[in-house]
Amino acid sequence: MSVLDILKTTPRLPDRYRNLSDDEMIRRIGAIKRSMGERLYIPGHHYQKDEVIQFADDTGDSLKLAQLAAENHQAEYIVFCGVHFMAETADILSTPDQKVILPDMRAGCSMADMADIHQTEKAWSILMETFGDTILPLTYVNSTASIKSFVGKNGGATVTSSNASTMVEWALKQKERILFLPDQHLGRNTAYDLGIPLEEMAVWDPIEERLEYSGPVERVKVILWKGHCSVHEKFTMENVREVWENMLGVQVLVHPECTFDVVQAADHSGSTKFIIDMIENAPTGSSWAIGTEMNLVNRLINNHPDKKIVSLNPNMCPCLTMNRIDLPHLLWALESVVVGNVVNEIKVDADTAGFAKAALDRMLQHSK
Ligand code: 13P
Ligand code: SF4
Repeated sequence: MSVLDILKTTPRLPDRYRNLSDDEMIRRIGAIKRSMGERLYIPGHHYQKDEVIQFADDTGDSLKLAQLAAENHQAEYIVFCGVHFMAETADILSTPDQKVILPDMRAGCSMADMADIHQTEKAWSILMETFGDTILPLTYVNSTASIKSFVGKNGGATVTSSNASTMVEWALKQKERILFLPDQHLGRNTAYDLGIPLEEMAVWDPIEERLEYSGPVERVKVILWKGHCSVHEKFTMENVREVWENMLGVQVLVHPECTFDVVQAADHSGSTKFIIDMIENAPTGSSWAIGTEMNLVNRLINNHPDKKIVSLNPNMCPCLTMNRIDLPHLLWALESVVVGNVVNEIKVDADTAGFAKAALDRMLQHSK
């Protein structure tokens, strides 16, 4: 089902939630959390706004949130402060009687939308004709449940930004080459770090239905889906040159969804957890330019006044879809649970969920 179809069939935030004061919403959410206790579990991704993060039982990167969803069997309701693919993952990994709720169905991910299942099946059949049965598919967790299912059905696995190297190495032991969906940058950055030269990587363009490569096609080892994160692509080499010029001793720290040039120029790159740990362990007085989503960068700036931290791109905005989850939507989702009329439940159908779980389980088995 497309995001537009989902929106047509889901209710919108009722007007009565639109003009409440923050204090009122915070009071009501706090009261529901206290009264529901362990029946309610609120995971929050690091890119979420502070106004909802304050209610998260756990915060984490995509890997940790997937691991926690697989472990938590006691909560009846998992109200996910994150985006659609994360809530789908939680539903796939939770038990059938647990309900997963996304407070605002418009909280999608533009990168996940860049690979749909029809494009993927078409690509697969053309790539099979070109390369035969030599390809293992890997998908970044930032993808729809149908893509995860396709990958699981074909023997592949999911990856997150914190285990991408392990999973690419694993995949290349199973088959001669990989198809990496949907983020070309994470795929390219990871494969290059593992010593695979750019000439052995090709890009699959799902719109033109064409493979882009230089050099002999039989040398292609990594096929990158032509998708990207619209937030992380906004960090450029010009931004890097500016901080080099204006901040003495700056260290550039970026997420691997950034482009190849930016990641190569950066001092460090890694998942949101890696970024947080690096800043927490940095010496007082050190200078950092961070290339990731703004809610997280602002939180790091506020939590570490002893360090000089800026966004690598001074004109950066937060991820718009992550930002959809706010106090009114969280309160609405929770009050709908209390009155027994759950809104915005995320339910992946059993056929899709079965193979998607196989892909997720293969990743979880290889992750600490
Ligand atoms: P991680 O938290 O896994 O680094 O993911 C970043 C992201 O873009 C989630 O949408
Ligand atoms: Fe998707 Fe990028 Fe937003 Fe993450 S930051 S949810 S990849 S659009």
